[in-house]
Amino acid sequence: MLAVSRPQEGDRDVSGEGALTDLDPAVITRGLTKRFGNLVAVDHLDLVVKTGELYGFLGPNGAGKSTTLRMLTGIMEPTEGEGAVLGIDLRRDPERVKSSIGYMSQRFSLYDDLTVDENLTFYARVYMVPRGERAGRIEQMIRLAGLGGRERQLAGHLSGGFRQRLALVCALVHRPRLVFLDEPTAGVDPVSRRTFWALIRRLADEGTTVLVTTHYMDEAELCDSLGFIYQGRLIAAGSPERIKKDTFGRAVIELEAPALREAADALADADAVEEVVRVGGRLRLIVAPGGPDAEGVRRLLADRGFAVTWAREVEPSVEDLFVSFVDKERKTRVRDQLRALREG
Ligand SMILES: Nc1ncnc2c1ncn2[C@@H]1O[C@H](COP(=O)(O)OP(=O)(O)O)[C@@H](O)[C@H]1O
Ligand SMILES: [Mg+2]
Repeated sequence: MLAVSRPQEGDRDVSGEGALTDLDPAVITRGLTKRFGNLVAVDHLDLVVKTGELYGFLGPNGAGKSTTLRMLTGIMEPTEGEGAVLGIDLRRDPERVKSSIGYMSQRFSLYDDLTVDENLTFYARVYMVPRGERAGRIEQMIRLAGLGGRERQLAGHLSGGFRQRLALVCALVHRPRLVFLDEPTAGVDPVSRRTFWALIRRLADEGTTVLVTTHYMDEAELCDSLGFIYQGRLIAAGSPERIKKDTFGRAVIELEAPALREAADALADADAVEEVVRVGGRLRLIVAPGGPDAEGVRRLLADRGFAVTWAREVEPSVEDLFVSFVDKERKTRVRDQLRALREG
């Protein structure tokens, strides 16, 4: 059992650092693990999501995001480890977890042959919204989702963006203080994605804790905190700024050069350059820690006979972090395997 105090409405941690129990977190896990036979889908996860934050849980396909969410929502029992959401122990009280949180699963669980109204009514009953409050609550949810005028439409006849927002408000109908959204914007058009993010940003600003998985990196930039999961392990976590500064620790340099492709090849061969990608008419490089700055890169290219129009350091994007973490992890794994071979 984890010693966590129960988060209060409107609580918000601003200290950043400190003991886990000081953070008054909405979600906390220690060593949370799920195995499927030999496969370790979630591997000793220590997760902290602070009350009232918008937390982006990032990872490539198969990383273990959905499995983590299934454990955090009380649907799936962990193989090992412990956790609490809203101060409720996952193992001891999964039923209370289920009724206290909101969950939008990866395949929106809507009934296509029910109307918008009927879907909301169904979820209001499941989540035991008191009968006398149902009609008002449903109206409120319809307004929140911008579904006014569509109450009698079948869910199956709604466009992607409306379906997604209906699924969201179905998960919010009992006004949970914590919601889990599993890839809510997958396959939704860009305008709807933006509307959706404005909506969940507002929810978080009003005090609801939101944990959302995505692999759209532009969405990740909008989160208060990020957790990167790869092969079941949390490989980095914190605010985007802190991860960029402390965990990433690499310069990102952009440059333009007349012989772009040849310059890219030359840079890819340089030890101090971890990655080169071409972005439109520019090159974007991730430099190894301790590697050259923009001027150094210019010299490096000049030494190899390449002219450089301009080169400057730019802010790393979440995508830079993501690609780099995944690569780092892969390299470490390869090194571990090599060591095992040597020693074996
Ligand atoms: N019920 C299950 N039985 C067996 N393997 C599973 C099950 N659910 C997920 N997995 C496996 O666990 C790993 C993590 O899956 P998942 O949590 O769905 O990843 P993500 O949501 O990040 O794409 C994958 O290798 C997946 O195939
Ligand atoms: Mg998933």
